[in-house]
Amino acid sequence: MLEPLNQLEEEARAALEAAADPGALAAWRTTYLGRRGKVTEAVKALATLPAAERPAYGRRVNEIKEALEAAYEARAEALRQASLAQAWVADQVDVTLPGRPIRPGRLHPSTQTLREIYRIFAEMGFQVYRSRDVETDEMNFTLLNMPPHHPARDMWDTFYTTRPGVILRTHTSPGQIRAMRDYCPEPIRVILPGMCYRYEQITARSEIMFNQVEGLAVGRNITMANLKGTIVDFARRMFGEGRRVRFRASHFPFTEPSAEVDMDCILCGGKGCRVCKYTGWLEIMGSGMVHPVVLKNGGYDPDVYSGFAFGMGPERIAMLKHGIEDIRYFWANDLRFLQQFG
Ligand code: PHE
Repeated sequence: MLEPLNQLEEEARAALEAAADPGALAAWRTTYLGRRGKVTEAVKALATLPAAERPAYGRRVNEIKEALEAAYEARAEALRQASLAQAWVADQVDVTLPGRPIRPGRLHPSTQTLREIYRIFAEMGFQVYRSRDVETDEMNFTLLNMPPHHPARDMWDTFYTTRPGVILRTHTSPGQIRAMRDYCPEPIRVILPGMCYRYEQITARSEIMFNQVEGLAVGRNITMANLKGTIVDFARRMFGEGRRVRFRASHFPFTEPSAEVDMDCILCGGKGCRVCKYTGWLEIMGSGMVHPVVLKNGGYDPDVYSGFAFGMGPERIAMLKHGIEDIRYFWANDLRFLQQFG
């Protein structure tokens, strides 16, 4: 009478041993301990037995049920441990592997050039004065001695906003007025860096946006000699001792007299090559003595004060320094270009 129960237990234990994964284990539980499971049926069969046989059968079947439940728990735990151990081995972290390198960014070539310019002028006592990119027509033109409709404005055509009289600055020169109004009547020695915008056809030589660095010195007894000395010194610190610089008469509405500044070609040393268009000279900036009208607009009495100003393009300077042939590279965001400037 108890023999079938013993056989059931043996069978169940063997099947449990064979269940090697969570799916098989769940199936085993349904087969033996589920609501219609073989052990559950065996428990129910108790009711059909003659009264005399029930105690022994009942004891045995309950024993088996409890034993199998315990065996099931043990098996489940064993499988959990086994899979954990396996994951432990499979997902092992090799702490001796080198880490994934984090690529450090680098400074844009314009930023590098700007910083070098700041450094050189800082040594000469010039502070950096920040001025806005979005300017008024008045600051950008009128107060710089270019009244409305003055033909000189054509050289600096720009982008206009929907607000009348509000434009993107075409040069850093409007910052001269802002700096003067800020400092007046103190003397001034500043450089004004930043982006400028022009309505231009984009070519290898001209962009619609670019940096400029303006220089401005205002005080008593400032002469053209101070302008020349400052610029020559800058050129030599930037491009190397022994550089030759020449001043070529020019015209800007906001300076008088005005001069373009040329430097002997760094590629051919002045002999003439493709870069300097066989002249031996490279233009590096515009300059001049601050026009009396501009001094007055800045708040200074031109009979007492004088000043000099200059303006250069750091991208042009970087092009000369590094032999870059196309200004469009600066804003094209091409890593093949940018990564060359560590
Ligand atoms: N603002 C002039 C330009 O953009 C450069 C300049 C600045 C010339 C200061 C003279 C003095 O071309």
